[in-house]
Amino acid sequence: MTTSSPLPDPQLRPQLVPGSAGTGGLVDRHGRTATDLRVSLTDRCNLRCTYCMPPEGLQWLPKVEQLTDDEVVRLVRIGVEHLGIREVRFTGGEPLLRPGLPGIVAATTALLPRPEVSLTTNAVGLSRMAPALAAAGLDRINVSLDTLDRERFTQLTYRDRLPDVLAGLKAAKDAGLTPVKINTVLLRGINEDDAVPLLEYCLEHGYELRFIEQMPLDAHHAWTRGEMVTAEDILAKLTASHTLVPDVEERGAAPAERWLVDGTGLTVGVIASVTRSFCGACDRTRLTADGQIRNCLFAREESDLRFALRSGADDQEIADRWRIATLNKLPGHGIDDPSFLQPSRPMSAIGG
Ligand code: 5AD
Ligand code: SF4
Repeated sequence: MTTSSPLPDPQLRPQLVPGSAGTGGLVDRHGRTATDLRVSLTDRCNLRCTYCMPPEGLQWLPKVEQLTDDEVVRLVRIGVEHLGIREVRFTGGEPLLRPGLPGIVAATTALLPRPEVSLTTNAVGLSRMAPALAAAGLDRINVSLDTLDRERFTQLTYRDRLPDVLAGLKAAKDAGLTPVKINTVLLRGINEDDAVPLLEYCLEHGYELRFIEQMPLDAHHAWTRGEMVTAEDILAKLTASHTLVPDVEERGAAPAERWLVDGTGLTVGVIASVTRSFCGACDRTRLTADGQIRNCLFAREESDLRFALRSGADDQEIADRWRIATLNKLPGHGIDDPSFLQPSRPMSAIGG
């Protein structure tokens, strides 16, 4: 069907977009299907990682604009029951700051077909929360940690919380939230020397370490390509003191390239989001804490599901809006393109 009438406003007329409405999953025009949902539960955080937030924090979302626990669960349910979502990851900001987190996790793990449910957290407060999260059915956890040096941690995050984070990691492992993965961002001249100690710490404790190339998602737009520590730099550092053999296990849509370390069964991963982007295999869709769908971390547009939700839309209509929001996902993030524009929201407001 072709139409010469004005383009329908997707917010108002989702059913008019050809071939998108009605049934099926979250498919885009480049043939990718999103099955992995990232849900940001709050834009607030109790740390101030320099590559993410200014020390004074950001202008937080007003409470009324934030989805309630029931609204989050309803959208996740629509994703799972109508749209083929198979994995749900809760993020922030810092998701442990959301009082309803265990209840949201429990409601999500009760859905059918049961999705895999995981959490990305800075682990402050996790030592207290890990048992409740495991009891709610949480499967796995990813902890952000960029250094093992207490002073440097304080410098990097503006908070003296390293001991809480290490206690949180241990509690997660003890509660069976495994494999416990650690995400590390290296910053030139700041924590590059932490790469090897972090690897050794993870080998000793059985955590899976993954380095993530820093992406242009900082609140102050200070990222430069030249300053970034690349996957190549990271591998050079690790191989100077450890033997890495590529892990041949199928990578699929997983962004990390993995290596087996020193002939052990343990692996280290590198997520080369910038220098070896994996957009072609992307299977993600994102829901912000204020109910906007973003089809990419770097999307310049969002689709407002909160408005639909609060105007009485039924599940089918919300599912259609989500499908339409997925259709125009761009083929790649375009960080290397001269016309690249950083999204207006920082990572903490999008969800990692
Ligand atoms: N680039 C790469 N990773 C980032 N993270 C936060 N900001 C950035 C960025 N600009 C990481 C956090 C956390 C995960 C959600 O993303 O360290 O581990
Ligand atoms: Fe908080 Fe994560 Fe941002 Fe650090 S990177 S300030 S832990 S949201």
